[in-house]
Amino acid sequence: MGLSLELAQISKAYNGQVILRDCSWVFETGLSHVLMGPNGTGKSTLLRICALLEAPDRGRVNYLADGRPLPLDLDLKRRITLLLPGVGVFNTSVFNNVAYGLKIRGINRKEIQAKVDATLEAVGLVEKKRQRALDLSTGQSKRLGLARAMVLEPEVIFLDEPTASIDQANTEIIEDIIMNLKAEKKATIIMVTHDPAQAERLGDRLLLIKDGKLWPG
Ligand SMILES: Nc1ncnc2c1ncn2[C@@H]1O[C@H](COP(=O)(O)OP(=O)(O)OP(=O)(O)O)[C@@H](O)[C@H]1O
Ligand SMILES: [Mg+2]
Repeated sequence: MGLSLELAQISKAYNGQVILRDCSWVFETGLSHVLMGPNGTGKSTLLRICALLEAPDRGRVNYLADGRPLPLDLDLKRRITLLLPGVGVFNTSVFNNVAYGLKIRGINRKEIQAKVDATLEAVGLVEKKRQRALDLSTGQSKRLGLARAMVLEPEVIFLDEPTASIDQANTEIIEDIIMNLKAEKKATIIMVTHDPAQAERLGDRLLLIKDGKLWPG
């Protein structure tokens, strides 16, 4: 049984302005959840709170394994990943960008090689692996960002507008990668998009954010 995520009455305000109001939700394990809503309604804020990068003012983010709540510690944080819309790449090779997260986890060289190669293959960047990451196109950089997240094999992956400012061909590639993450890695996906057609294609479950509340889409 995988990791499951529940929000219990999350509230968040910035400078006295309420952004999230008593939001509760159960994200079903192994499914893809697509969150939509107008600019500035709190989608990215909600993802940061879910990914434990920011604390809510009130309420709780509960991660459960076998029905039991887990402590919100480093072990748990290593099982989840948030991919931001503007992926910052490190000024080194494509390979090293993907290997970095594994290196800091102390994984051995041989295993790093194998995992990075497999991941670059999955995102269609294997022939670019010796190239400087800063020389990649925008679409390729997005795929590199996905590769950096995927190589860590997160059980829950948050994607904030993964195809914003990407052409159709790269969008299709990225959508395929996301669908594979769910099908093969059994990851739970929680993503934000402004494209209703994409939400229909990718989402097992659709959510809307409006007036600081979450609604079924
Ligand atoms: N760290 C912060 N400090 C102050 N205000 C913030 C902070 N983060 C977000 N906000 C404000 O909270 C509101 C929600 O922002 P958020 O980025 O979550 O919206 P969003 O739904 O992701 O919008 P978009 O579709 O434009 O990405 C905005 O008014 C934003 O200015
Ligand atoms: Mg946003």
